[in-house]
Amino acid sequence: MITIFLVWGIVVAVCCYLWPIFGIRKRKMGEPPLENGLIPYLGCALQFGANPLEFLRENQRKHGHVFTCKLVGKYVHFITNPLSYHKVLCHGKYFDWKKFHFATSAKAFGHRSIDPNDGNTTENINDTFIKTLQGNALNSLTESMMENLQLTMRPPVFSNSKISAWVTEGMYSFCYRVMFEAGYLTLFGRDLTRQDAQRTHILNNLDNFKQFDKVFPALAAGLPIHLFKTAHNAREKLAESLRHENLQKRNHISELVSLRMFLNDTVSTFDDLEKAKTHLAILWASQANTIPATFWSLLQMIRNPDAMKAATEEVNKTLESAGQKISFEGSPICLNQMQLNNLPVLDSIIKESLRLSSASLNIRTAKEDFTLHLEGGSYSIRKDDIIALYPQLMHLDPEIYPDPLTFKYDRYLDENGKTKTTFYSNGLKLKYYYMPFGSGATICPGRLFAVHEIKQFLILMLSYFELELVESHAKCPPLDQSRAGLGILPPLNDIEFKYKFKHL
Ligand code: HEM
Ligand SMILES: *[C@@H]1O[C@H](CO)[C@@H](O)[C@H](O)[C@H]1NC(C)=O
Ligand SMILES: *[C@@H]1O[C@H](CO)[C@@H](O)[C@H](O)[C@H]1NC(C)=O
Ligand SMILES: *[C@@H]1O[C@H](CO)[C@@H](O)[C@H](O)[C@H]1NC(C)=O
Ligand SMILES: *[C@@H]1O[C@H](CO)[C@@H](O)[C@H](O)[C@H]1NC(C)=O
Repeated sequence: MITIFLVWGIVVAVCCYLWPIFGIRKRKMGEPPLENGLIPYLGCALQFGANPLEFLRENQRKHGHVFTCKLVGKYVHFITNPLSYHKVLCHGKYFDWKKFHFATSAKAFGHRSIDPNDGNTTENINDTFIKTLQGNALNSLTESMMENLQLTMRPPVFSNSKISAWVTEGMYSFCYRVMFEAGYLTLFGRDLTRQDAQRTHILNNLDNFKQFDKVFPALAAGLPIHLFKTAHNAREKLAESLRHENLQKRNHISELVSLRMFLNDTVSTFDDLEKAKTHLAILWASQANTIPATFWSLLQMIRNPDAMKAATEEVNKTLESAGQKISFEGSPICLNQMQLNNLPVLDSIIKESLRLSSASLNIRTAKEDFTLHLEGGSYSIRKDDIIALYPQLMHLDPEIYPDPLTFKYDRYLDENGKTKTTFYSNGLKLKYYYMPFGSGATICPGRLFAVHEIKQFLILMLSYFELELVESHAKCPPLDQSRAGLGILPPLNDIEFKYKFKHL
């Protein structure tokens, strides 16, 4: 795949050499320092792509906290001082939050524009997400996820003979399988008529999802899906299975999906397959970050005996006070939102795991020329330029997070064992110090559900299984940097672990 990138890059570069003059911007008075890069059109894209964190740190040393880089034909203003983040977000009226998201979604999933301004639909997708992922809807979503996780994780009934044996499996592939299956059932409902065929169907979709997701960074970078035959096939098969006629046979479909299936959208010009492609976009949003986030949380917890002990105690206490009994045959464990929200140790473990693995790029487009006022000074921004935050710079800043590459399970706990919210940069208290879910108007609408899912997963792993790493002092696998910018980075290689059902 690397070679395809290179070939494509060279083609683009050669084309652009034919009319180099138009491509180069001159810095004007009041604008941030500018890096045009060496390659026309692509600008700094190759250096940025190779190692975004190092590239940005280097420019920060050279230019200070605010600078502009040309990236694939766009001028991107990076704001790198976390003390400025809240100031940036104050300029909301100059930002188009959605333009970039809509365009990326259309390119990657193959539906036409869902921007109401383009006249294909009247749906306000932002309202749909907030209505179906938060508030009352979050209750049923969370409840349903807890049942589905147990459906996926508990031993099948009548199989007592083998359940006490150790199983060895890659931890990433375990998390992938369990979270994908349970998450899929939660969003798209269960097929009660064909229970046995259902698992085959979902595992088949999981394979297609993996194939498609593998090329997602390339699609987001603007390469057409036709370059990737297997991934293209996989995407079409996934969309096919999310057509209305197939979903109709399922029960307990989440509001997120059912509301969009029966949307009385007066100007929707989308046919069945195109609607299915928008469902696929939601499937991707719900899984692509959650799966690696779950993996890192489980791995870090198991690797750190103190974390494991504190988590086990917290879970034990919570289950006792909720009157829940752990058993393989009885009713599934059930915790309400209040109980899930009151788990500071698990919260801290999850936050610390995401701090170390998240590499999202937060992007807004300038709707008009305007002046960006920050603490350190004011900057002229041109229409259609991009304002970007790269929170990994903050997450790994040793001043805010001492010893930033070390996992400390209690980093987000205060001296009373409650959630800690005071972090400092330059002696000043930070308003934004933890941003794996983005910020402002485009903050992830599924973030509350995501944290519930991961907590539920950890609670059930601790309750039902004995857990061990195959190599007890195994090194943490490195992050897959090829997905930098997209969210939580997966591990570059899997790591084996052993689990067996507890004697209950
Ligand atoms: C640990 C798990 C997750 C992480 C780290 C995460 C992170 C993010 C980030 C960084 C964005 C883009 C925000 C921006 O552009 O500023 C986003 C968007 C989104 N996320 Fe999540 N997410 C997670 C889980 C979920 C789940 C479980 C769901 C839904 C069931 C979900 C639904 C969405 C949707 C629908 C959007 C698009 C919002 C829009 O463009 O209007 N996410 N997420
Ligand atoms: C729908 O969206 C596409 C871009 O994806 C655009 O070209 C087209 O004009 C839009 N409107 C209609 C009514 O199809
Ligand atoms: C759409 O219309 C149908 C029939 O008129 C109705 O049953 C359904 O509840 C409506 N859906 C929404 C989301 O308003
Ligand atoms: C919690 O710990 C106590 C004491 O060690 C033990 O007796 C009890 O069974 C545990 N409860 C659960 C739900 O694991
Ligand atoms: C989405 O809706 C929420 C709540 O109504 C609002 O705060 C946010 O600004 C909206 N985002 C966009 C991009 O319109």
